[in-house]
Amino acid sequence: MKCCRGRLFTRWRRVFLFAVTVHAAWFRQWEGKPGRFFRERQVCFGERTGWRAVFGAGMLHEWRREGNTMIKLVDVEKTYYSKAGDIEALKKTNIEVREGEIFGIIGLSGAGKSTLIRCINMLEVPTGGKVFVDGEELTSMNEAQLRKARQNIGMIFQHFNLLASRTVYDNVAFPLEIQGMPREQISRRVAELLDMVQLKERADYYPSQLSGGQKQRVGIARALASNPKVLLSDEATSALDPQTTKSILQLLRDINKRLNLTIVMITHQMEVVKEICDRVAVIENGLIIEEGSVYKVFTEPQKETTKEFVKTVNDIKIPPIIDTASMKQAYFPGSRLLVNLTFLDSGDAEEGKEKSAGADQPLVSAIIKKFGVDVNILSGKVDYLKDMPYGTLLVELIGDEKSIAESVRYAKDAGVKVEVIGYVG
Ligand SMILES: Nc1ncnc2c1ncn2[C@@H]1O[C@H](COP(=O)(O)OP(=O)(O)OP(=O)(O)O)[C@@H](O)[C@H]1O
Ligand SMILES: [Mg+2]
Repeated sequence: MKCCRGRLFTRWRRVFLFAVTVHAAWFRQWEGKPGRFFRERQVCFGERTGWRAVFGAGMLHEWRREGNTMIKLVDVEKTYYSKAGDIEALKKTNIEVREGEIFGIIGLSGAGKSTLIRCINMLEVPTGGKVFVDGEELTSMNEAQLRKARQNIGMIFQHFNLLASRTVYDNVAFPLEIQGMPREQISRRVAELLDMVQLKERADYYPSQLSGGQKQRVGIARALASNPKVLLSDEATSALDPQTTKSILQLLRDINKRLNLTIVMITHQMEVVKEICDRVAVIENGLIIEEGSVYKVFTEPQKETTKEFVKTVNDIKIPPIIDTASMKQAYFPGSRLLVNLTFLDSGDAEEGKEKSAGADQPLVSAIIKKFGVDVNILSGKVDYLKDMPYGTLLVELIGDEKSIAESVRYAKDAGVKVEVIGYVG
């Protein structure tokens, strides 16, 4: 209740400050009060109504601005200063994470991922720029305000960071004890959290008696103890085997849906991004080099690093019977064109998505009939980008140069992603 009142007060304070700012701007612009501004335009209401209009506009703006942005980084920079030399770990970074989404940040080792995520909760203080979480500017807060704001931001780590001398129960209870929550309330909350991460039976175990996956579940329960709106995950699955990784990702997806929790996932595994993220940013040498919906980044990677990441989960395996040594990029008599076709579910069009030919459209038979081209299917599979199914077909197009070119154009026009690999003999 105390916390709600605090938040309400902060919100109203912001609205009030905004209204004052807007009015000051109007005052400068029209050298008069808003009442006068409206009067001059023969709007029939009194001076007070002008003030109310300003106040209303301020509130509307505030409401819209908060709409659904949960995290906003504006020109955030981080330089580590040392005698050995300064390291610019983060260069002017701008990111906006929407409420309730799972946002991935992928990059190679040393790219600046941990620095970036630690700037979000100010474990690292940026050397430049501003950080906003849930509409509050963290970069302008004092220590006490930060401690309070951090209750809204949970964090999980690659090596779990559990307290070895405390049981599972005590680890999860720890942040609540620090907040000064009464014992019975802590007991209820911890039981609830352990139930959520399916570790009720292990409450009295010590971290050393748990598997990696179980330790991370404890980490997740502890991170969620104070009911945060944001969960930051720094390589939380990197120390786990593929099976356990899947189960932890599934748990994070469930929590994201159930609690409308905003999650930022730092990772160097494209598999993680593909499995649970809605949008992704690629970081390299402290710079965001590419950003967009997972669909867009996955199907149309622009930068070399991004292409390499996509390859790790979507590499086209050309069967050994194909003589790739003689492959050419131009047609030669008697050659076949090797292409990889990607079909996406056309149902859920979103940012950056083209309307795509779904599995219901007989593309292959249409190409055969329309252009007299033979299609030899070499391999095919169905995969998922989060919940969105997509299929890939590796085929050879056999025919004359013109018919092959027309077939490729036809497939592209139908919304199929066509990756031309080359002509083989
Ligand atoms: N406390 C520090 N003092 C000095 N330099 C640092 C510090 N922390 C990180 N760096 C440097 O900043 C750069 C980015 O490091 P960061 O830990 O953010 O990378 P990362 O992408 O998380 O890498 P990894 O995948 O290996 O965890 C690196 O060059 C690193 O050496
Ligand atoms: Mg790191």
